[in-house]
Amino acid sequence: MSETAKINIQGKETELPLIVGSEHEVGIDISKLRAETGAVTLDFGYKNTGSTSSNITYLDGEAGILRHRGYSIEELAEKADFLEVAYLLINGELPNEEEYQKWDTEIRRHTLVNGDIQNIFDAWPTGSHPMGQLIAMISSLSSFYPESLDPNSGDEARMRTITRLLAKMPTICAMISKNRIGHPLVYPQNSLNYVENYLNMTFKHVTEDYHIDPVLVNAMNKLMILHADHEQNCSASTVRLVGSSHANLYASISAGIAALWGPLHGGANQKVIEMLEAIHADGGDAQKYIDKAKDKSDPFRLMGFGHRVYKNFDPRAKIIKKSADEVLAKLGVNDPTLEIAKKLEEAVLSDPYFIERKLFPNVDFYSGIIYRAMGFPVEMFTVLFALGRLPGWIAQWKEMMEDKQPIGRPRQIYTGPVTRSFVPRSAR
Ligand code: CMC
Repeated sequence: MSETAKINIQGKETELPLIVGSEHEVGIDISKLRAETGAVTLDFGYKNTGSTSSNITYLDGEAGILRHRGYSIEELAEKADFLEVAYLLINGELPNEEEYQKWDTEIRRHTLVNGDIQNIFDAWPTGSHPMGQLIAMISSLSSFYPESLDPNSGDEARMRTITRLLAKMPTICAMISKNRIGHPLVYPQNSLNYVENYLNMTFKHVTEDYHIDPVLVNAMNKLMILHADHEQNCSASTVRLVGSSHANLYASISAGIAALWGPLHGGANQKVIEMLEAIHADGGDAQKYIDKAKDKSDPFRLMGFGHRVYKNFDPRAKIIKKSADEVLAKLGVNDPTLEIAKKLEEAVLSDPYFIERKLFPNVDFYSGIIYRAMGFPVEMFTVLFALGRLPGWIAQWKEMMEDKQPIGRPRQIYTGPVTRSFVPRSAR
């Protein structure tokens, strides 16, 4: 097989090397294209463009494969705990017992946030969206920990910044929940593990005991693992792009959270439940909404369906669907929107419009149903996605920094007016 790609641009031929990944993915290395031909490539939405090489996550959208550092998502979701997966993503290997205990202890030691963070919450308008708060709170950590401002200040300092962020994220997410309802905070309790601690800080009322249900801990652990990384999506690419200017980790992750917020990305989990509720309020006619989604003159889309890279099934959705059944059975939830979700799913999976376009339920379709059954308000759903995705963003940022990748600076094809002379305002 040829190791190069030949390209002929306006009669000028050049040969470009091929890059073959460890799973035999083939890419054309175009780094010399502009120098040799004067041309650039154009690929709206980066549908065919690799922005980096990476050792972290392998994804085959046709085959429905997702692996982190070689381990399948199915096995990780079944056998690992979230901090173990976080360690794997960030450090490259699964921790042995000693490494795990050290990692876990370090994270437990850093769960508390500076009390002044509450002052920022106090200044926030009541009822504002949790994602807006999360973006600001994570970015504010750079002010509390100025050593993070220089991301090149050595491996030890970098790992301290990473540990702090992982440790404080659940505390901040729980603070958002408590502040939204005007309740006193529940402080982290470091005898609890990462997931238990988060559930306890979120759902415990200071005046009452709270039983941390192992079924919910297990479901939450699984959900967080399933969200932990997804290679070069919109938010991970944002983290890498912002970080490539050597902005600090907190600023880079905050930018990733902003990218996640949109309804076409992580914001879809909130939109799924809102859509199901709207269908329920409108009489429960799922077909009416399927028809709307198919109508090209109607901007409505079925939220929680379709994916840029998965074209047969989303392996995360398969695992979550099973987990949803377990949680709902355990909690004895009788949710009318669940019936609508089932009807919608069945109808879509046999509808030629969706079959032809390879649209099927994605991870956000089922995660919202579980989060709701667990008692999270819909506005918190995308925050939960961010909580799970954090190790992936950190791993992407760390890899980019360690590889000393250049600042991200895409090219463009200019399509505006050609040169013209300035005309004074009075003469225009
Ligand atoms: N409902 C109805 N039609 C759809 C949908 C949908 N949810 N998604 C895609 N289509 C149609 C689209 O209209 C287009 O049709 P045509 O070829 O006739 O013009 C075709 O399918 C291809 O869609 P696209 O927008 O070109 O695909 P994309 O790869 O750019 O977008 C997507 C992927 C996820 C943004 C899109 O499927 C979508 O908007 N889905 C709903 C939002 C959603 O659930 N997002 C969560 C994604 S999973 C979590 C994550 O990793 O972010």
